Amino acid sequence: MVAPHSRLLNANALAFRTGKFLTACSRFRVSMSDHAVPPALEIRNLRKTFAKPAVDCLSLTIGRGEFYALLGPNGAGKTTTLRMVAGLLKPDAGEISICGINALAKPVDAKTVMAWVPDEPLIYDKLDPLEYLEFVAGLWAMDPVKAEHEARHLIEILGLAPHAATRCHGLSKGMRQKVALAGALIHDPQLIILDEPLTGLDAASARQVKAVLKDRVACGATVIMTTHILDVAERMAERIGVISNGKLIAQGTLEELSRKAGQDGGTLEEIFLTLVANEDAAAA
Ligand SMILES: Nc1ncnc2c1ncn2[C@@H]1O[C@H](COP(=O)(O)OP(=O)(O)OP(=O)(O)O)[C@@H](O)[C@H]1O
Ligand SMILES: [Mg+2]
Repeated sequence: MVAPHSRLLNANALAFRTGKFLTACSRFRVSMSDHAVPPALEIRNLRKTFAKPAVDCLSLTIGRGEFYALLGPNGAGKTTTLRMVAGLLKPDAGEISICGINALAKPVDAKTVMAWVPDEPLIYDKLDPLEYLEFVAGLWAMDPVKAEHEARHLIEILGLAPHAATRCHGLSKGMRQKVALAGALIHDPQLIILDEPLTGLDAASARQVKAVLKDRVACGATVIMTTHILDVAERMAERIGVISNGKLIAQGTLEELSRKAGQDGGTLEEIFLTLVANEDAAAA
C-alpha cells in the first residue's frame, strides 16, 4: 500500500502554489486525518473464463489518490478486468469493492462513485458536446447551474470550446473521445477507470487529457488507466501493475518493478518485456 495522505498533501500544496487549487479542488474529498478510508478499488480472487481463463484469480488493491497504470500484452485480461469492475461483465467468482462499496452486491451505489471510459466510447451523436454533458449531468441529478458550469469548464480545459455547438456526429474520433471523457468526469467520480484513453489522440489532445487526469488525482481522485504507451505510464503513474494471462505478475513503482525484473535503471519498456517473458517462460 502507498501512503496516500502524504502524497495528497504534497500534490495539493503544489496545486495551491500553482494556482490550480481553487479552480480544480472543489472535490478534495479525502481528509488528511481520516485513517479509515477504504481503498478506491479492492479486487479479490477475480475470475472470468470465456473459451479459456481471461482473468485468473486476480487480486489488486489501489489506494485513494493513486495514479495506477495497468499494463499487459494484448489479450492479457485488462479490459475484461476493468469491465467487471465497471459492472458491465459478471465475474465467475471473486469480490470487487469500490471505495468500500461491494460492487457486486450494490452495483448502482458503486457506479455513483466511479467513472468508466471504454476504449471505444459511445456518445449521443445528435447532441452537441455541451448538450451531451448537460444530459449526462441530468442523469446524475446534478444541479443544472453547477452542471453547466462544470460542463463549460471541462469543454474549455479539453480544448473542445470551438466545437461546443457542433453535433457530436460531426466531430473527429479524438474529439469524441474527449467528449466521452468529459461525460465520465462530470459527476466528479472518486474512481476514474480508463481503457487506453490516449490511443488516437494528437499530441495536444493527449496533453490536455493527461493534465485533466493529473488534476483529478491532485484533488484526491484515483485514476486507473490501461495503456500500451509505456513512456506515458512511466511518467504519469505512481504504481504500475503488469497483467499476463489474466494474472497480476508484478506491481509497484518503477524502481520496484526494475528490481523484480533484475533491470536496474532500465526503461519501463525493457522491464515490462522482461517481466512478461519471464512469466511466459515459467508458464511454458
Ligand atoms: N466477450 C468475449 N468473448 C469471448 N472471449 C473474450 C471476450 N472478451 C474478451 N475475451 C478474451 O479474453 C481474453 C482477454 O481479453 P481482454 O480484452 O481483456 O485483453 P486486453 O488485455 O484488454 O487486451 P488488449 O491489450 O488487446 O486490449 C482474450 O483472450 C480475449 O479473446
Ligand atoms: Mg483491452
